Amino acid sequence: MFKSLPRAILAVFIISVLFIWNPSIAKADIEPTQLAKAVQEIEYLDAMRSGLASSLEGQKQEPTMQTFKEVCKPVGMRAKELSQKNGWQVKQIAKKYRNPAHSPDNLHSQMALAKFEQNPELIGFWELEKLNGQDGIRYYRRINVEASCLACHGAKNSRPQFIKDKYPQDLAFDFKVGDLRGMYAVFIPDGLKEVLENSENMTNQ
Ligand code: HEC
Repeated sequence: MFKSLPRAILAVFIISVLFIWNPSIAKADIEPTQLAKAVQEIEYLDAMRSGLASSLEGQKQEPTMQTFKEVCKPVGMRAKELSQKNGWQVKQIAKKYRNPAHSPDNLHSQMALAKFEQNPELIGFWELEKLNGQDGIRYYRRINVEASCLACHGAKNSRPQFIKDKYPQDLAFDFKVGDLRGMYAVFIPDGLKEVLENSENMTNQ
């Protein structure tokens, strides 16, 4: 159902639901526009991966390193870019991860994964959280498995050779369509406005 909704409408929907359900935002020293922007950027990011993956569907050849560069690698790169540009920490987190950098990084993220697992209808939510000693808010957004993902996240034995070679500790296989693949996590530190202003001053000097 959600696939048919344009992303912008979905983002607005998520933001309103979150504001109604989560009065803790009022207590955090964060501008609501930052959160709205994070929600929107994650919708774009998720749509980007779906689009890239579905462009592979129907291809006869096994995905190669080159194909990977065209699907999940750009997602990781964009996450990094969003972090640098906005002063956020944007990550992908999964219980069954392929890249160990994407393993759950604290108790909150483990619980967030469990919450998505138990509530298939839950798309996103946020929490006040302390990350690396810093107070802030963390937005979590689910990632579901689509048919186009199975070329690389399907049965263990049918994984492309480059994945078997490059990720010997791989756990991100044997998924089925509709399974929870993982989530995006965007940490927005408190007082971000001042942080950004200060860093701008520093670069201007
Ligand atoms: C061409 C192969 C390929 C396809 C198709 C593919 N992935 Fe991936 N995916 C990978 C590889 C390789 C990684 C590890 C990336 C890294 O090293 O950061 C990865 C990592 C991920 C991660 C980060 C968590 C982790 O396990 O490291 C998520 C989430 C993810 N993929 C979801 C998806 C979804 C959802 C789809 C379908 C819409 C999809 N992938 C399609 C190859 C693929």
